Formats: sequence, C-alpha cells, structure tokens
Amino acid sequence: MERILNKETIKYLGKEVRVSGWVSARRDHGKIIFIDLRDKSGILQVVFTPSEKETYNLAQELRPEWVIEIIGKINERPKKMENENLVTGKIELEAKKLRVLSKAETIPFSVATDGYEIGEEKRLKYRYIDLRRQRLRKNLETRQKVIFFVRDFLSKKGFLEVETPILTKSTPEGARDFLVPARLYPGKFYALPQSPQQYKQLLMVAGIENYFQIAKCLRDEDPRADRQAEHTQIDIETSFVEKEEDILPFIEEFSISLVKKLFPEKKIKEIPFPRIPYKEAIKNYKSDKPDLRNNKKDKNELAFAFITDFPLFEWHKEEKRWGAMHHPFTKPKASSYEELKENPEKILAYQYDLVLNGYEIGGGSVRTIDPKMIISVFEVLGHSEDKIKEQFGHLLEAFSYGVPPHGGIAIGLERLLSILLDEPNIREVIAFPKTGDNRDLMMDAPSEVSLAQLKELSLEIKSKKKTKE
Ligand code: AMO
Repeated sequence: MERILNKETIKYLGKEVRVSGWVSARRDHGKIIFIDLRDKSGILQVVFTPSEKETYNLAQELRPEWVIEIIGKINERPKKMENENLVTGKIELEAKKLRVLSKAETIPFSVATDGYEIGEEKRLKYRYIDLRRQRLRKNLETRQKVIFFVRDFLSKKGFLEVETPILTKSTPEGARDFLVPARLYPGKFYALPQSPQQYKQLLMVAGIENYFQIAKCLRDEDPRADRQAEHTQIDIETSFVEKEEDILPFIEEFSISLVKKLFPEKKIKEIPFPRIPYKEAIKNYKSDKPDLRNNKKDKNELAFAFITDFPLFEWHKEEKRWGAMHHPFTKPKASSYEELKENPEKILAYQYDLVLNGYEIGGGSVRTIDPKMIISVFEVLGHSEDKIKEQFGHLLEAFSYGVPPHGGIAIGLERLLSILLDEPNIREVIAFPKTGDNRDLMMDAPSEVSLAQLKELSLEIKSKKKTKE
C-alpha cells in the first residue's frame, strides 16, 4: 500500500490507508491511546485500542517526535470529538499496524507553539527542530510561492534569468566584503558579491536587455531585525531606461500583481504608489522610509511608496570625504561634468527606493553610461584616475563598446516577505539564518580551520581576538 499524506485521508472514509510522520502529541484516555500524527501536510488523529493487542502494546511506548508508520482504517469521529481547526477534524485513523521508524530524545523545546517565546540561541542551534513548527513551514511555503510568482511574472514579460558568479571582485555597495583567499594566487582574494550590480550592467552591454535573478548577496555588516549577512534579492535590470518613468510603473505593476495573486486579503493603500522626493520625505516624515499606513495596527494594510531624487553624494563626516549615496554608477541629475564637480552637495540622482510600511524593501537607479561622467563621479569620491581604472576599468571598457541606457532595482526578498507575513524579523522567513552576532550555531560557523588549510592558502593567523563562546 502506498503512503498517503495526512490531509489526503479525508478522501478515504471507511478504507485502509498507510500514513507516516512524527508523534506530535499523545493522550491516554482510559484504555484508549490517542496520537496526533504530524506530517508536512498537517495533523491526523490516530486511535489505538486494546483490540489490536500487539499494536496497542507498542503504542504505549510512543513518545513525542518519534517517527512512525501506521496502517489502519479511516473512521468518522464521534460528533462531540470533531475538531473544526483541523482539515482532518471530522475523521480519525483506527490503527491496525504500527512501525517505529526512529525514536527521538526529548526535544529541547515545543514545536506546537508559534515559537516566539523561545530564545534565539536555542531556536537557531536546533533550527531543524524549530522548522518543524507550522508557522515556519508556512513561511517557507510562502517564500516558494513568491519566488515562483517572480519567475513566472518576469519570464512572461520577456526577462531572462541569469546566474552570476559568487566568487568575484569587490563591489562598491557600501558594506564590507566577505573575502575568499585564492589558493592559486597567494595574497590575492575573491570577494563574495554584495549584489550582482556590475554583472547585471555588463549583461546590458551583452544585449540581454531584460535580466532578473533571485540573487544571493553577502555583506559583512552587523545583523539587525531587517539585516542578515546573507540575503536574497529579486534583482532586475532593464535596457533603454533613461528616467524614473521608464521603470517605476513596471515595478509598481509587479508589486500590485504579486499582492493580488498571493495576498488577496491585503489592501494596498494608494495606487499609483506615491512618489516622494527624498528632501520632502525627510522634511515631512523625518525619514527616507516613511510609514504611510492609516492604521499601523492593521496588518492587512500595505502602504507602498517610491522615494525619489536622492542626493547623489553623502558627506562622510569622520573621514571628511564624499561617499556615494547608492552606488557610483547612479546617473546624476547634472547638466555638466563641471556642475557635478563644483557643487556635489547640490546634485540629485536618478535613484529610487521602494518603501513599504516603513521599511526600505527595494532600491535602484538609472545608471550612468557616459564614461566621462562616471570618472567625474569617482573624482568627487576622491579616487585617482589610476585607481578608477584598476577597480572599474573592465566596466569602463565595456561601456566603450556600445552600451544601451539602462537601469534597475533590487527588492530584498526577506524584507518583502517578513512584512507580508507580519513577521518581526527577517530570520523568520529564512531557513537557516545567522544569529544577531552573525554565527551559525547549528553548524558552528565561523570556525577554525587546520594549519594545513591555512598553509595551502599561504595564510598565517597573526592574532586571535577572543570572542564569545
Ligand atoms: P541595495 O543595497 O539598496 O541595492 O539593496 C537592495 C535591497 O536589498 C535588501 N537588503 C538587505 N536585506 C537583508 N539584509 C541585508 N543585509 C540587506 N541589504 C540590502 C533591501 C534593499 O532595499 N545593487 C543595488 C540595487 C540596484 O541598484 O539595482 C543594491 O544592492 O531590501
């Protein structure tokens, strides 16, 4: 007999079935033993009675989280025992045969609750148990649905999904890079991508025109509720974009379609999404990611907005130098190279953020394709011409071979999901997130490596800062 899922048993009234899963709970009522059997599809009530003696005796040994297989008959439950909260609430399985597939130690915490009450360290050390809870399973399922939607929507619009390298060169997204020593080139390093920014622009030079990727991005920055060392972007770039109007309506259409298809219970506050210049946002809301909801307690209200016209540069006080507000490839709203260099503080950029309920969920820009303008921007940023050539020579060269005007955006998948799922922290929508201090407690990473490995990489550890256990 083939195994069926718990949720399918409702179609088998009066018939024999075979099911398997975890013992979620056990209740003894006099001589009768009840088991809640949990599988990926939900819970099924199983009844053991002394009439099946051998099976009944074995059932007495069952403990929570043992993995078992049962063959039995699907019966209607007595009316007063029905449970409206379960798909299988009107039936139960009368066990005939029981097989224990594996036993379990007492698990470190309950998986029957939503889990918010349990400490982060414990949850993440035993993430494989934590993930057994229904809330997290549902979050992963929704994550898959969103990714599926993204692929479907963008493919139908003629976008090509292209994977870009994970071992690459440092990119200026503003965070610290994770570095990987290159064994074959002692003293040289790959950098893990903070985003596929340069690759997606090179794909525009390659004539791809419409690109997307569900891209892993890695940034060595301190984690926060909405920030992880590893995050995933819905990364988009498109050609023949010269101004905001050429791309923002498309991002808006994408966002609205996503909500309508997968979160129909949610109401979008305002369509078209308001576009608020950065200066106005700061003036009126004291924030570049204002929460525009009418009622902040209503979890079904979605207030999207685009923040536009960011300054191109920001002044880094401590280092006394200009930095790029987004990244150096953002197109300036400047009429000449001279204007840019003379009054950097006044120059705005073709840069936009997508904000939702007070969070920045996406950011992007129209890019500069004029090599002279790129060099002018880098000059304001204090790079020498040699340094520019060394770091970005490949991009400047590529732009000399026929580059279409282009622009794009990247939406943070986890931020988007955590808002749509009403989760307080993006780790709730990631299967294996890092802790607040950037560790993977389950795998024990980061961890030391052997001297032999270091030697092979021509590396030597000079000092070890003692950190927390
Ligand atoms: P940006 O750096 O603004 O732009 O990132 C885009 C979006 O990615 C999400 N995000 C993060 N989510 C979780 N943890 C993090 N550490 C993290 N960092 C960023 C945010 C953010 O809005 N290449 C450009 C995009 C472009 O110009 O097209 C970029 O990466 O939701």
